[in-house]
Amino acid sequence: LRGLHNLAKAKGRYFGTAIDGLQNNNDPAYQALTGNPAEFGISTAGNSLKWDATEPSRGTFTFTSADYHLKWAKDHGQLYRGHTLVWHSQLPNWVSSGGFSNSTLISIIENHISTVAGRYKGQLYAWDVVNEPFNEDGTYRTSVFYNTIGPAFIPIALRAARATDPSAKLYINDYNTDWIGSKSNAMYALAQSLVAQKVPLDGIGFQAHLIVNSFERTLPTNFQRFAALGLDIAITELDIRFKLPVTDALLASQAENYQYVVNACLGISRCVGITTWDTSDDYSWVPSTFPGEGAALLFDANKSPKPAYYAVANAL
Ligand code: XIL
Repeated sequence: LRGLHNLAKAKGRYFGTAIDGLQNNNDPAYQALTGNPAEFGISTAGNSLKWDATEPSRGTFTFTSADYHLKWAKDHGQLYRGHTLVWHSQLPNWVSSGGFSNSTLISIIENHISTVAGRYKGQLYAWDVVNEPFNEDGTYRTSVFYNTIGPAFIPIALRAARATDPSAKLYINDYNTDWIGSKSNAMYALAQSLVAQKVPLDGIGFQAHLIVNSFERTLPTNFQRFAALGLDIAITELDIRFKLPVTDALLASQAENYQYVVNACLGISRCVGITTWDTSDDYSWVPSTFPGEGAALLFDANKSPKPAYYAVANAL
């Protein structure tokens, strides 16, 4: 294998993966593959930088697993993407149960960001500052942040992140915004207004949790309009799942779909890179979240490259 990151790097991009629970991982084959900087040049923590992991009770911060992961990535010659500072999900109860005044919740957000992003200041390539702000129809998602502060929680979080770690690229990240539609239109309107107001924002993350042959083929046009705002774009959580069992036909469709997504990134000069949401199918979040579906990644449970791997390598 020549290595996906090496191939991406030759085109000025990166290729990365996401990892969870590394501290307790006893799978040398997984670690060898995931930690191979020829394949993956950048690493994202699947869970350990989320609010429930980093500030489980107010003002009490825990960084053991995030620290472990960051050191591991560095030891393996990888950059690091931080995921995520302000998100409605995986929030500890003390935050999600709400009851805060506007100004109290703003100071809770600012303290969370200055402490978590402050710990890793200068060490991260990027932060997903805000994750998943939108509903499918493009309205803002109900959350303790939106309900208490309104859409202003987004610029508040971005400004706090910039003030804390000026060298990290700051992203807003969401799913089902990959193609043109109500949700991506809402993201575009938000990005346009933040740029116009000179709110610190460097990029838009497109999660790209896709289903085989079930997405609209408008990724390039969609990505291009964000790039035209002067923003980077990144594919941050790519996986392409299908209903099990695995068949050769499904693997072939999946390979073609992956190739399409990679080409959509390569066609946009501002598309900085691609991260898959874990390395091999046995570690994917898909089977537990979407029962009956799976096999969404580039490597199978034996850590063998699938047709999709070769399709991605060919595209790169
Ligand atoms: C997922 C993790 O992979 C799971 O382990 C966890 O149980 C739930 O969250 N969009 C995101 C990621 O931004 O944080 C999610 O990660 C997957 C969907």
